[in-house]
Amino acid sequence: MKTKKQVRELLENLSLPEKAAQLIQLTGNFFEGSGIETGPSMGVELPPEMVRHAGSILNVTGAETLRKVQENYLKNSKNKIPLLFMADVINGYRTVFPIPLAQGCSFNPELVKAGAKASARESAAAGLHVTFSPMADLCRDSRWGRVMESTGEDVWLNRRMVRAMVEGYQGDSLDTPQTVAACVKHFAAYGAPEAGREYNSVDMSEKKLLEEYLPAYKEAVEAGCALVMTSFNTLNGIPATANKWLNREILREQWGFDGVLISDYAAIHELMEHGVAETEDQAAELGIRAGVDMDMVSPAYGNHLVKLVEEGFIPEEMVDECVLHILELKNRLGLLDNPFRFDQETMDREQACLGCKEHKELAKSLAGESMVLLKNEGILPISERSSGKKIALIGPFADSRLLCGSWSMFYQEEEVVTLQQGMEEVFGVDRLLTAEGSFLLEKEEEFLPFKGQPITGREERERSGKTDEELLREAVGLASEADVVILTLGEHPQQSGEGGARTNLCLPGCQRKLLKEICKVNQKVAVLLFSGRPLAIPEVEEKAQAILQVWFPGTEGGSAMADILSGRMVPSGRLAMSFPWCVGQEPLAYSRLSTGRPVRPDQPNRFSSGYIDAPDRPLYPFGFGLSYTAFSYRDVRLDKKEFGKGEDFCVKGTVKNTGEYPGAETVLCFVQDVCGSTARPERELKGFEKIFLRQEEEVEFSITIKEEELRFITAEGVFETEPGIYRVFAGGETLEIRRKE
Ligand code: GLC
Repeated sequence: MKTKKQVRELLENLSLPEKAAQLIQLTGNFFEGSGIETGPSMGVELPPEMVRHAGSILNVTGAETLRKVQENYLKNSKNKIPLLFMADVINGYRTVFPIPLAQGCSFNPELVKAGAKASARESAAAGLHVTFSPMADLCRDSRWGRVMESTGEDVWLNRRMVRAMVEGYQGDSLDTPQTVAACVKHFAAYGAPEAGREYNSVDMSEKKLLEEYLPAYKEAVEAGCALVMTSFNTLNGIPATANKWLNREILREQWGFDGVLISDYAAIHELMEHGVAETEDQAAELGIRAGVDMDMVSPAYGNHLVKLVEEGFIPEEMVDECVLHILELKNRLGLLDNPFRFDQETMDREQACLGCKEHKELAKSLAGESMVLLKNEGILPISERSSGKKIALIGPFADSRLLCGSWSMFYQEEEVVTLQQGMEEVFGVDRLLTAEGSFLLEKEEEFLPFKGQPITGREERERSGKTDEELLREAVGLASEADVVILTLGEHPQQSGEGGARTNLCLPGCQRKLLKEICKVNQKVAVLLFSGRPLAIPEVEEKAQAILQVWFPGTEGGSAMADILSGRMVPSGRLAMSFPWCVGQEPLAYSRLSTGRPVRPDQPNRFSSGYIDAPDRPLYPFGFGLSYTAFSYRDVRLDKKEFGKGEDFCVKGTVKNTGEYPGAETVLCFVQDVCGSTARPERELKGFEKIFLRQEEEVEFSITIKEEELRFITAEGVFETEPGIYRVFAGGETLEIRRKE
């Protein structure tokens, strides 16, 4: 690896145009790689010298392809500084893991870290240097399509998951054939767009921003995340990509981030659309002054930086600072010593990890731990042994390979294990009666996917050649003969993800009709729900005897679902994001303020903080999740009666598996600051521990609550805890502890 001095000398030997070119990221079509476009097609026109010396390309993958791109690039390059290869490996490369929102529900950071490590290994084997992950946006509005990329609504859980992913991707060094640099995104608060509408403005108090929306990004920086990506949204009127306060004062000065700050896709150019720059050179100037090191796919830096320096609008030192961040990252990756990072033998060896058995087993475990049992009136698990009992497997996801979510672009569809395949493996082909039952979409439904032609309910029907009535009739016939029905319902994976904002969270009418008709002829119906977001499913809650939220579970989803249905795996997931009764409740979060007139369910009152047409609480709250077994707690206690500044305390107790299955219980610790100089949330998660227990096994747990984790911005604007009573909720108990004067 080069010394800092050598990297600085490299910078000093660059011409101004070469420096500017290092700050550009282009799509693969400028080179020999035909990459995947993940944003609006930009007719990017750049001077050839800028292309010849560009710093990076994105979303081109494959060791062979990228080796050729690098070879040809270096042939034409004067300064021989290699390209950086970045891509969106959000939940896996060739082996696809559950979508991140599902991974959040596992409450198992160690397993999530192992998944990220496997994804990094496959990404590095595919020639990549950087993944645009983790997404640390706090998400409390299910209308927004990108909740599927987050790990949900809770600050504490997000921080733990983001740290796990950064550590998994980056390992102990970036200069290894099994790690890649992580890029935390989208900085900042992109997950709080008004009305849940994609790219919409974000407006919130600095207090809310600092207490709730920034901590997960900060956690990533503290975990050593090598890159940060700016977000598309305005934050209190200023686009994040032009936001000096956010990017220089908070990120660089307060948090000490010294890595690469990259814009999101064309976000610098889009400062004109935001109306904060009249011309593209003004947009370029705003970006560089806000400290954005690299311009993703927009022509702003490539067309204007040189002139802005030559005409004295920006000091060359400002460009140097950005180039240095990029050269230092290339150096950390080993690229300045070897443009191909590793010899051919190493790269050939690493190909064996792509989709390997070990990674698939990991994906299956994580998928199983990410699924959340929302209801079970004794019909799950289904015994593998009762060969006489027929199982009807019905619905649009029964044999679907659409299990990987909207951000999985590098996997082989034929490697996806469908639910039907998984169930045949576990229960045997003879026990299964299968039928599609309904289409995924209403006939008149249509929407634009991430790429390609519109997805329409009409096209579904044309392709099938069957009518809604025929599908329904066939399914009802099977259901009436079966002992139990597995009914698969949900949304298309492309109805969530970027550009996937929705105003309606209900299942389509054709699926609701299927549910109704099946439940008329069979009283043992288990619904498996496939979605990239919490859906509004009161009719499923009312009619089905069991509900398993499976999200988009990835390559091994079918085998994980079959293992859960048969009891080979016992569900242990808990919701990382609340499920509403209806879209009107959004945005929704459990950690809310009580208001002056909280709803008292036992005292109906017009003058209370509720709705006249819906409950004030979610259908299923954050942290909810059932098991096949049962757990009991005893002796839950605090290790002290009071604590002071800097003094941590512990929640201790014993948890026992009192049921008939082995299982994992996640002990959740919530804390409430009962009275503060500002109103404080009814409860906030401040610790959790996932514990695996065999039948009748019991263990003592001890969860440390750090005083610094209870601090907030007081009415005087000071970040501290205040004297008074704190309630601790754990193991079904409510305990109290005093913060002393
Ligand atoms: C997209 C997304 C971002 C992604 C980037 C590169 O627009 O906002 O999450 O990493 O562009 O594909």
